[in-house]
Amino acid sequence: MTKAKRLIIENLSLVHVVIELLDARIPISSRNPDIENIVQDKPRIIVLNKADMADEKVTQQWIKYFTNQGKIALAYQSTAKGTQNSKKIMEAIKLAAKVELERRERKGIRSQNIRTMVLGVPNVGKSTFINALVKKSIAKTGDKPGITRGKQWIKLSGELDLLDTPGILWPKFEDPEVGFKLAVTGAISDQVFDWMKVTLDLLILLKEYYPSTLKERFKLDELPEDNSELLELIGIKRGCLIKGGEVDTEKAAGIVLQECRTGKLGAISFDRPII
Ligand code: G4P
Repeated sequence: MTKAKRLIIENLSLVHVVIELLDARIPISSRNPDIENIVQDKPRIIVLNKADMADEKVTQQWIKYFTNQGKIALAYQSTAKGTQNSKKIMEAIKLAAKVELERRERKGIRSQNIRTMVLGVPNVGKSTFINALVKKSIAKTGDKPGITRGKQWIKLSGELDLLDTPGILWPKFEDPEVGFKLAVTGAISDQVFDWMKVTLDLLILLKEYYPSTLKERFKLDELPEDNSELLELIGIKRGCLIKGGEVDTEKAAGIVLQECRTGKLGAISFDRPII
């Protein structure tokens, strides 16, 4: 077992409820493949974070998908202003902890708070999520696997404590489909993938699920079947030309990828449940 995983398991033994953070746009690709094994029977809530960047309809399908598996799942935006949203999270944690609370009730134990911790892959929004719950920046963390600092608990409410440092898990990097989805959502850096190939694959996906978004954003009347041709058209529309009037497709690819990652292309979901 890796040190990172051992640390997470150690910390898991201290909490009553796990908050599994997923990227709402890619709930499967942003999931650690070993998560069930790690969390086992520990009560858990699934938070589909960055819901503002995902296709709302698809997010609702994911919630249904996880609910059908007997899990507690909800959509969330850690960057949202206001506090209403965090109430939903607290309620879900308490719902997940119901069995534990009932056990305490029966035994007359009231002294200890419900303790919880956040788990998720890098860039899913763990620090932002924790900050949103505590409403101040005390949850800074590097992308190191496992938990590296001394344990500190944040009081979320009179009865809920949150471990201030999240557990960092790894996604299934070796799966090319997962790699593609992590690349288009900006979870992995440009240096580690062939971004021209990623952009061409992205165009296939956008043409299938979001054709009108693609047309509107790049002011296209039609979408050619050939993706290199489509990229050239986008390049022309965006003035990506080099000497001799040739289209700079690398520049065009960079624009498509960047606009997708920053949400300029709109709310897009890349993983879809089979229902
Ligand atoms: P991590 O701890 O899991 O590695 O993730 P972190 O909180 O650092 O968040 C990664 C990026 O995702 C940050 O953007 C953060 O602002 C963004 N983010 C987190 N939650 C949400 C959300 O609900 N909605 C949206 N739209 N974005 C979210 P960044 O550009 O990398 O950093 P920054 O410019 O915000 O500092």
